[in-house]
Amino acid sequence: MVNFNIIRAARAVLNVTNLEESRRFYVHALGFIETESDDKYIYLRGLEEHTHHSLVLKKSDEPSVEAISYKVFAEEDLDTLSAFFTEKGYRIKWMGSGSQKAIGRTLRVQDVSGLPLEFFATMDPVDRLLQRYDLYKGAKVQRIDHFNCAVTDVEKAYNFYINELGFACSEYTTADDEKIWAAWLHRKPTVHDVAFMNGVGPRLHHVGFWLSDPMSVIHTCDVLAASGYGSSIERGPGRHGLSNAFFLYLRDPDGHRIELYNGDYLTSDPDFKPVKWDLDDPMRQTFWGHAAPDCWFNEASTVLDIHTGQAVKTDNPKLEKKKPTIII
Ligand SMILES: [Fe+2]
Repeated sequence: MVNFNIIRAARAVLNVTNLEESRRFYVHALGFIETESDDKYIYLRGLEEHTHHSLVLKKSDEPSVEAISYKVFAEEDLDTLSAFFTEKGYRIKWMGSGSQKAIGRTLRVQDVSGLPLEFFATMDPVDRLLQRYDLYKGAKVQRIDHFNCAVTDVEKAYNFYINELGFACSEYTTADDEKIWAAWLHRKPTVHDVAFMNGVGPRLHHVGFWLSDPMSVIHTCDVLAASGYGSSIERGPGRHGLSNAFFLYLRDPDGHRIELYNGDYLTSDPDFKPVKWDLDDPMRQTFWGHAAPDCWFNEASTVLDIHTGQAVKTDNPKLEKKKPTIII
């Protein structure tokens, strides 16, 4: 019985090598709202977000991922989670209130796959800009939506998140042997807060941000091309069969991948039956049938150890790493 309440995917802390380059991409081209910044950090949010930030860009020598972060319902949930992980043998790390900008105390832990998780209950409020249409620019990013991670054992991650952390599955992919190759899991009532894909891991594949409509996704391509960022478009726009997402994948100046998307659906019913896809179904990954570039399958961001700050060693996936055959 899960006795804590994780609300949603809430922020990512990405290490980047040049804050000015990152600002040009995220703020000037994509239209993220810059809540605050200094010489080490830029704090970004989407237009509908009521809290200080959902993306932290931190100046560093190498690009990497410091944390992917979930909001919990109440402060007590952090203590319950701490006891839960400790009892399971995980080494947790507390970061006190005030040690990170605009956020209360956080609990960090390397999860069952080696991903650097963070949990928090409170973040400073800011003006919600949903109806400040005069400030809409670029992609008109509304809010953070999900993380997508490459892990070596999806079934292990799936079992831990479903059975131990209280997530539910909306969609999943199996190969011929019925082993789970990828899974889309949620706490908030949408398709996902986190997806796990079979691959060299642990690595962060992308952070997903929600746009208000498919035209905003297409408009983003025009804006990026016109502002010299055409080569940042890695895949899309397109429609995933799985999740129904109308997607666009971009690579930021450090190679971190972000997804801008629209088009998923309500998953709140407890009797919602997870949608199963076959790995070789060409409509699964791209509903219209066109191929994804190899880099989308092979490249992802390095994640850091929460205790040492060093890169977490990656391993090959347990299942055969295969790219579905696309029939055009
Ligand atoms: Fe995604």
